[in-house]
Amino acid sequence: MPEISWELLHAQVEACTLCPLYQGITHKVPGQGDPHAPLMLIGEGPGQREDEEGLAFVGPAGQLLTRMLASISLPRDRVYICNAVKCRPPQNRTPTPEETNACRMHLRMQVALVRPRVILLLGSTALKATLGPDHFITRERGVWYERKGVWMMATYHPSALLHDASKKPDVWRDLQSLRDRLIDLRLYPDLYPAVSQETETTP
Ligand code: URA
Repeated sequence: MPEISWELLHAQVEACTLCPLYQGITHKVPGQGDPHAPLMLIGEGPGQREDEEGLAFVGPAGQLLTRMLASISLPRDRVYICNAVKCRPPQNRTPTPEETNACRMHLRMQVALVRPRVILLLGSTALKATLGPDHFITRERGVWYERKGVWMMATYHPSALLHDASKKPDVWRDLQSLRDRLIDLRLYPDLYPAVSQETETTP
């Protein structure tokens, strides 16, 4: 197996014809962000704006995602963001399991390159593509899983929030839980300075 690298990942995604989604797209959307981020975010697949620009989460859902991260003091450029599939499905339909299966080799290589300590799965497609088809977002959002030292949690996709504001309190709770996990693992120490455990003692 060749040594993995970002150059190989990008070349592999660019040349990929493993499923039919590459037909009729404008750009492949591999993902972007801090290549060694402690936190990785996985969404579903590119939408129209993402397809036009070749960048993940730059449309309305992406703008909401930026605000969600800001609500826990995380600048977006401090995380790595990608999708379960790298090509826009026609009419923004949900990618099929065959399409996410075909794209998994790219996602696996990205996880191996970033080596995140925590992964936030945005929506059902990311949850199933990463943890398996028997996982359900309504049942498992907010639940932490640990796989080979990597902590993973799913929450609703920002697009779902744009369509259904009643999901906001759950996502708010999930974001607090994410922040707590990052603090527990002492990640982003410049953003979340450790609170001193020492208590003042009276003489
Ligand atoms: N929705 C996603 O899942 N990913 C994007 O990049 C944009 C919208």
